[in-house]
This record gives sequence, structure tokens and C-alpha cells, in this order.
Amino acid sequence: MQADNRASIKESLLVVDDNEINRAVLVGTFQDEYNIIEAENGKEALDILLQEKNSISAILLDIVMPVMDGFAFLEEFRKRSLTGVIPVFLITADTSERNMYRGYQLGVMDIIEKPIVPYFVKRRVNSIIELFRARKSLSQTVRHQHGQIMEKDEEINKLNYALIETLSTAIELRSGESGSHVKRLSRLTRFLLLELREICPDQIKVTDEEIEQIAAAAIMHDVGKIAISDAILNKPGKLTAEEFEIMKTHTIKGCEILSLVPNYQDNVLYRYAYDICRHHHERWDGGGYPDGLKGDEITIWSQVVSIADVFDALTSERVYKKAFPVDTAVDMIYSGQCGKFNPFLLKAFEEVLKKYDYAAQK
Ligand SMILES: [Fe+2]
Ligand SMILES: [Fe+2]
Repeated sequence: MQADNRASIKESLLVVDDNEINRAVLVGTFQDEYNIIEAENGKEALDILLQEKNSISAILLDIVMPVMDGFAFLEEFRKRSLTGVIPVFLITADTSERNMYRGYQLGVMDIIEKPIVPYFVKRRVNSIIELFRARKSLSQTVRHQHGQIMEKDEEINKLNYALIETLSTAIELRSGESGSHVKRLSRLTRFLLLELREICPDQIKVTDEEIEQIAAAAIMHDVGKIAISDAILNKPGKLTAEEFEIMKTHTIKGCEILSLVPNYQDNVLYRYAYDICRHHHERWDGGGYPDGLKGDEITIWSQVVSIADVFDALTSERVYKKAFPVDTAVDMIYSGQCGKFNPFLLKAFEEVLKKYDYAAQK
């Protein structure tokens, strides 16, 4: 049972009462401001509500009705998580403590005693509707602003990433490298972590997000080379022992540079980058530098970047060497010529090489 003008007005009031006269009084009170939808019992009200819940601003509900009474309606209303979304007013002649308590327990906003005084009912209903409207608009604004913040966040992240990549590429170019070593290294780091997580899920617990952060941090592994002189960095032949000692300091210098980045210490990307900078030349048997860490003392992300770095360096041309073919590079890694690696990591590396067309990345 519905009023004729319901399609033309956006906001509606649902009046639920089995008594036609009572409904007529409420219709008379609110029809100037709202589109009124009438129901004779809780069941009819529920059916209407399920179809029109987005356009109903409030429900005026009688308690004693046939088929489904007001309380049963409120139970159903709560089951459908509508309590607090649409305000409900109990309109009743029985304002006993028991009824009022039960009504409030079931989430009604206000209890209005019959016979109603139109002026006061209007004030009470309108002020609650206004409150719900303001709350809805506030939560929409918050949602919208949250969306904007997320977008800005993503923009800043992209910009950060681009800056990191540019700086690292500049350092790479200065050391006579191709400029794409860091990009391949980052990709290989990602593949290796995904593989490790698959083959030993109990030991390697990294989320997709952490993998992306580690892959981004890997780009900064050699940032400390900016502090190494051209004469050493670009020396075409083998480094002397003394020169090699200087070259080794790029790990510590990298950390020093990262520590200068303002407000970066609390950032998770910074923590990965710091660790990778310092430990990407450590080896599983303790034979690496600068700290001579052994086995699991080296974080898994630094271990992954180490093997990816060695492999990409071997298969690329450098001022001091030609590029080795992939098979030769793999043999050199497995035979321990580039230091010892974690056996799990070597297994993951083997699997990655089967899936990943390395030559295509060059
Ligand atoms: Fe390095
Ligand atoms: Fe490298």
C-alpha cells in the first residue's frame, strides 16, 4: 500500500501500523516533506524495505500488529544489519518500561507515545533524520578523502621508486655498466623470493607486498659505489688487494648514504635497502664482507640479492671482463667460484632459471 507521489520525491518515510487511522495521522504529519510508504504489518514493511532501503530515511513502527509485530520486525531488521543505518521510531500507546527497554535493546532511536502530537513528532523525527544524513555525508567525505590519500600515496611511491631507479642507474652508468643491471636484479630478486616461498613455505614467510618492497630495495644495493673513485670503479684489469679493500667499503658507504635520507629510518623500504646495501656481498660460509656473517645470520633478502647480483654480473660485460654465457655462469655459481650460497637458495635459483628466460631480459 503506497502513496501516489512516491516516485517523484527522493526521501521516503515508511509508516508501519495496522490501524488505518493511525497511519492517516502520520501521513498527514509528514506528507509535505516526505514521500510516505505505508505498510500494515512487519512482514509487509520488510518486503518494502528490502526493495527500497536506499530511499527510506526513517521507519515509524507500531508494536502490536498481526502477521509480524514491531519487535519481530526489529529482529529481522537487525539480522539484515540495517540497525543504525535507517533510524526506527516506535510509535506506541504502551510505553511500559518493558516495551521501552526491549525497543531500545533492538536498536530503535526513539519511542513516541500515542496519541501523537504532530508538531513534536515532526521535530523529533526530523532531528534524527538530519543527524543520520549528516553522519552519512561525513562518512562519504571520509571515504572520498581516504581514496584521495591512497592515490597520493601511490603517486609518491611511484615517484620515490623512479628517483631510486634513476639514482641507481646513474651510479651504474658511472661504473661502465649498461644501466639495466639494477632492473634485471630487481626482477630476479622478485622471482627468487616467489620461488623460495613456494619451495620452503615454512621458512620463507614473505607477503607479496614485502616481496615488492625487497625487489625495490634491491635496486639500491650498490648505492655506496658513488663514494668509490673512478680509477677503482672503472679499472679495466684486476684490482690490487688495496684497491679491493677500498671497493669493499661500498657496502658500508651505501648504508651511510641511506642514513642521511631524512625521515627514512622508519620506512620499511629503507630497512630492507640498508640491510641489502650492507650485506649483499656476505656469503653462506662466512667468506663474504663486510661483516663475515654466516648462514642464517644473513637475512634471506640479502642472500637473494647476492646470488642475483653475482649471476647478472657474470652474464654481463664489465670493464674488467666479458659476459659469460648463462650455462658457464650457473656452473661458476654452483661450483662455489663466487662464494658459497644457501642450498635452499641454489635450489630456488635452479627452478627460476628453468622458468625464466634470462636472455630475453638482456
Ligand atoms: Fe656490490
Ligand atoms: Fe650489482
